[in-house]
Amino acid sequence: PKRVRIRHFARAKEQGITITGLTSYDVLTAQIFDEAGIDFLLVGDSAGNTVLGYDTTLPVTIDDLIPLTRGVVRGVKRALVVADMPFGSYETGADEALHTAFRFMKETGAHAVKLEGGVRSAEQIRRIVSAGIPVMGHVGFTPQSEHGLGGHVIQGRGSAVDQLLADAKAVEEAGAFAVVLEMVPAEAAERVTAELSIPTISVGAGPHCDGQLVVWTDWAGLTSGRIPKFVKQYANLRTVLFDAAVAYKADVESGAYPDEAHSYSDETAEKAHRER
Ligand code: KIV
Ligand code: NA
Repeated sequence: PKRVRIRHFARAKEQGITITGLTSYDVLTAQIFDEAGIDFLLVGDSAGNTVLGYDTTLPVTIDDLIPLTRGVVRGVKRALVVADMPFGSYETGADEALHTAFRFMKETGAHAVKLEGGVRSAEQIRRIVSAGIPVMGHVGFTPQSEHGLGGHVIQGRGSAVDQLLADAKAVEEAGAFAVVLEMVPAEAAERVTAELSIPTISVGAGPHCDGQLVVWTDWAGLTSGRIPKFVKQYANLRTVLFDAAVAYKADVESGAYPDEAHSYSDETAEKAHRER
């Protein structure tokens, strides 16, 4: 398959083709989502929650994300892989931001990086882009600043749409190829999408954006506890895996597993593996 490039994002917006993204943190899900035709995979710092068990993304480090990103890059043939820059890896200035972007590009093979913030991150985006590295912006609700924002608060409501628009425009002017709008009213996202020439990617920003992105463990019903209102559940993997683990334990305890079909014998010249 022909690789998704940033020009495909621009073309999709021009032609009204909606872009589809999911997060991924490992090679197996990357292979599946890539084969299914998902256009881009974000190795999000949401790995703090989905892989490492933290309550927020704040403790996540570059060194946490690099091995996960490597696995995802190895899993794809077509999808564009975006590496998420974690909290504390770009805020002090453009030099730090470029240094972090270099680490992800050189050490993982990712095709682009993402960082949070509009006006406040424009200088960082500009420097990374000028080094030939595609940048995805991220405005609206930005989880790395959840304490500053006062929790999980919907952004861009009422007159706050002006700040949202200014932030999205700053990201575009700095040279980003796309921008995530997270947790904003559908009407605000529609306005930003109309006023920007780069594609907007919705994470809980309604149907009028140029693309959609979801944290895959929420979308597949693997996450425990609460999931955001905007996530539609497409599978119930938690139940599937729970039932499988219970059945396995019962079979082991009863002796039903392993049976002859799942054991090696001295008498037959069987192979070590079989196809799934
Ligand atoms: O880390 C992540 O998964 C994200 C998306 C939700 C935008 O940043
Ligand atoms: Na993130």
